[in-house]
Amino acid sequence: MTEAATTEHPAHVTATFAVRVADRRIVGEDIVALDLVRADGLPFPRWEPGAHIDVFLGKDDRGEQICRQYSLWGDPEDSSLWRLGILKDPRSRGGSLRIHETIAEGCELTVRGPRNHFPMEPAASYVFFAGGIGITPILPMVRRAEREGLPWKLYYLARNRQRLALLEEVGALPSEKVVLHCDDESGLIDLAAITSELRAADHVYACGPGPFLDALEKLAASAERWTFHCERFAAQTAVGPADRPFEVVLAKSGLTLQVPVGVSCLKVLRDAGTAVDWSCSEGVCGTCETEVLEGEPDHRDAVLTPSERASNETMMPCVSRARSARIVLNL
Ligand code: FES
Repeated sequence: MTEAATTEHPAHVTATFAVRVADRRIVGEDIVALDLVRADGLPFPRWEPGAHIDVFLGKDDRGEQICRQYSLWGDPEDSSLWRLGILKDPRSRGGSLRIHETIAEGCELTVRGPRNHFPMEPAASYVFFAGGIGITPILPMVRRAEREGLPWKLYYLARNRQRLALLEEVGALPSEKVVLHCDDESGLIDLAAITSELRAADHVYACGPGPFLDALEKLAASAERWTFHCERFAAQTAVGPADRPFEVVLAKSGLTLQVPVGVSCLKVLRDAGTAVDWSCSEGVCGTCETEVLEGEPDHRDAVLTPSERASNETMMPCVSRARSARIVLNL
């Protein structure tokens, strides 16, 4: 069995798998799709729409492991394949570029997962917004809504037609429920007009570029009717000049550590030899989610929902800090 490790986490159980790239194809401009199969031929674990996996891509120039998160867009019922869609990001720090330039059919990789911080909640009706590669977590949700006979509508947006990924799969959906919108053909989409038609029962799921999600989030906040869920590619707030040092107390080990300005809490924890899982170090994957026992976190991740943030029960120490002078973690 090639399953290398199992990681227990308060919210998830994930496993690590050796996989082989069974198929690689271009599915849009600068967008590649990979089909992964387990090297040992066994089935993958089940996953739910919205799930992602970690893909390990070797070491960078500093010897740090490169690990990136990609949404699963295939059929959750098909345990023989995990399907990924990857956009070549010009700001890539080695992840998407490495995949585009070095990963071919037959390559072997290590992946971990699945995790799901973007679960599809039961609802009477759904409206989906996808921007570019943001279609990947949205597509399985759309298919599920269709299979369950629930009302849904998909707005799929991109700068131009070449940036619309997985068009073959989107084309297999009932066309009357799908709106394809390309900015270069139709100008910017009027999100305010679309969302003004939404009803209280609608659950809105969105994934795409930050400004697009910011606009939807703003409309959702002012509407106070429909329920908004989104997945971001990057956390909204970077570590900034307003940072303050704080003390982190580890309840299990009894250690007390100081987190200075300009250094992440995760780095301080790791430097002290604390066993804490981490992956993206950017507040987007949820791997480092840690239970907070005392103190008030300064949440800066893109994973927790507003209500989860308000509860202050967990935090992502890779980007989040503390509003209180002291914070106690269940580590
Ligand atoms: S390591 Fe990804 S959210 Fe912290």
